[in-house]
Amino acid sequence: MSDISLEVKIGSLELKNPILTASGTFGYGLESRDFFDVSQLGGIITKSLSLKPRKGNPPQRIVETPSGMLNAIGLANIGVENFIKEKLPELIKLNTKIIVNIAASTIEEYVECVEILDKEKIDAFEINVSCPNVKEGGLEFGRDVRKVGEITSKVVAKTSKPVIIKLTPNVTSISDFARISKEEGATAVSAVNTFVGMSIDIFTRRPKLSHNTGGLSGPAIRPLALAKVFEVVQNVDIPVIGIGGIISPEDALEFLIVGAKAVQIGTHNFVDPKGPIKIIEGLKSYLKKMNYNNINDLIGTLELNK
Ligand SMILES: Cc1cc2nc3c(=O)[nH]c(=O)nc-3n(C[C@H](O)[C@H](O)[C@H](O)COP(=O)(O)O)c2cc1C
Repeated sequence: MSDISLEVKIGSLELKNPILTASGTFGYGLESRDFFDVSQLGGIITKSLSLKPRKGNPPQRIVETPSGMLNAIGLANIGVENFIKEKLPELIKLNTKIIVNIAASTIEEYVECVEILDKEKIDAFEINVSCPNVKEGGLEFGRDVRKVGEITSKVVAKTSKPVIIKLTPNVTSISDFARISKEEGATAVSAVNTFVGMSIDIFTRRPKLSHNTGGLSGPAIRPLALAKVFEVVQNVDIPVIGIGGIISPEDALEFLIVGAKAVQIGTHNFVDPKGPIKIIEGLKSYLKKMNYNNINDLIGTLELNK
């Protein structure tokens, strides 16, 4: 099976296979070293980092839901400088691509984070635009096409590394956001972040999450996420990284056939820490069975019904 190539290219970012771990579900990338050989992954995407450390929201921050989970972690993280000092030296030894995810509450903060990290040995940036725009009263940057365009152009101007804009699905037309990302110089978009959701404790009549609403992830969102990826692929000529409810090789294949160049595994990491590795093995078996030597021959081969 070793002659089957799983390598994919996203701009200048070369991945040994299309399986990445999603931000916020794989810590800073070091925690899983005890479970498996992390170098087998196509790449690791870090927890969102902000300029300064953030405590996040008070508990309860996670609620189990049918076929998924709701989270309102509130972007708790150690901050860019601590990441560079405490995590990055070990991470870069892992022989896989390191993609650093950035979150910020002002456009200036995104730019500053990228400027600081650009000097480090990381392979790409993923920009999480699903953060409240503090300066303009809390609406997510990711729901404002103009702001997503502005963040993209300002970040791209500060780095020669690939920039991936991570899109929120909580908009009417996700392809408008992919289009502006492309126009302003993004290398790729990743789709999708979590869907807004809610769950109520019927005895206290209060929301179960301290933040009232949260982000829904896991298999519950897979068909919704796939349709968002489909929308982007059909309308905008930019590489797409698919995310949402992937727990098996078959799920990953659905996204790849629709046209995603790579996929991210998120919530499934909490269920099966070796899940991403099993998915890589499953992709190889499928390609062999279907007589493909190269995964790129399969990507985007969707045949639409008339
Ligand atoms: C507990 C948790 C924490 C997350 N934290 C982040 C984060 O810090 N930054 C980010 O861009 N996405 C974050 N996400 C979203 C995931 O990266 C992913 O986009 C989403 O969960 C959908 O994929 P999945 O269904 O495979 O989990 C988080 C998701 C979960 C479940």
